[in-house]
Amino acid sequence: MNTTTTTTEYRAASRVFTAPKAHDGDGVELRRAFPGTTVTDLDPFLLLDQMGPTEFRPGDARGFPPHPHRGFETVTYLLSGEMQHRDSWGNHGVLRPGDVQWMTAGSGLVHSEMPAESLRREGGRLHGFQLWINLPRKDKMIAPRYQDTSAARIPVAHNAEGTVTAKVIAGEALGTRGVIDTRIPILYVHLTLEPGATYIQEIPKTENAFAFIIDGQGTLGGGRAAENQVVVFDRGGNAVEISNTGTKTLSLLLIAGEPIGHPVARYGPFVMNSREELLQAVNDFQAGRMGVLD
Ligand code: FE2
Repeated sequence: MNTTTTTTEYRAASRVFTAPKAHDGDGVELRRAFPGTTVTDLDPFLLLDQMGPTEFRPGDARGFPPHPHRGFETVTYLLSGEMQHRDSWGNHGVLRPGDVQWMTAGSGLVHSEMPAESLRREGGRLHGFQLWINLPRKDKMIAPRYQDTSAARIPVAHNAEGTVTAKVIAGEALGTRGVIDTRIPILYVHLTLEPGATYIQEIPKTENAFAFIIDGQGTLGGGRAAENQVVVFDRGGNAVEISNTGTKTLSLLLIAGEPIGHPVARYGPFVMNSREELLQAVNDFQAGRMGVLD
């Protein structure tokens, strides 16, 4: 008989900080969790932005006009508002609250990510997240791929008491697996915990892990954190423990991934392995080899 005993060892919060305010696109108000002065390197993750929450007046909604990407994936998760996207290869669609767009930019494209017509005309609330995940060297030049996943297709799991809810965007939580394919092991869960609830998530020791608090307050890996704060976990264990210590629902993103460990050469929307590959990306973009978006 083959018996395996796994001891649960909890990771500690190594850093807790407030995501600084920033602007990008044509004036979208953001909080950029990283890269920044506190965290520059969280392999395989390159960037996390919270878009808004912003209440737009009619005619005032902002977005991200045409820009290129090469060498990584962008994951957009919308909580409020509607965004429409178009790219230089003819792909287009609309993201609504709860929807996820997992876009593998691979060899490259030019796209726009703008408020949908109704949000532009009538105004309203925009709130969402964009995460950038690096690609391993062998995948950087694969053909672009979209996994647009509607809210209805994102599995939702609950604990036995009904005090914890997990929307599983990628990976596995509460015994439920996400439906999106990832190139490397990734966990991406939107958790909500009722006051007093505690949740434990297994995360392999090799993976980097962090959380972004959307609302409420709690204790994560022993660190206290509240709205708009980022918690980076150390690698000293195979699980994280999260408790809601506040009086309202705690809402957060819990994200982890296997480090790629390859050199990172980065210039704006291009993330490659060397300076030569970056120059090639700029040349290819300027020559229209990532397509052209009017
Ligand atoms: Fe983009």
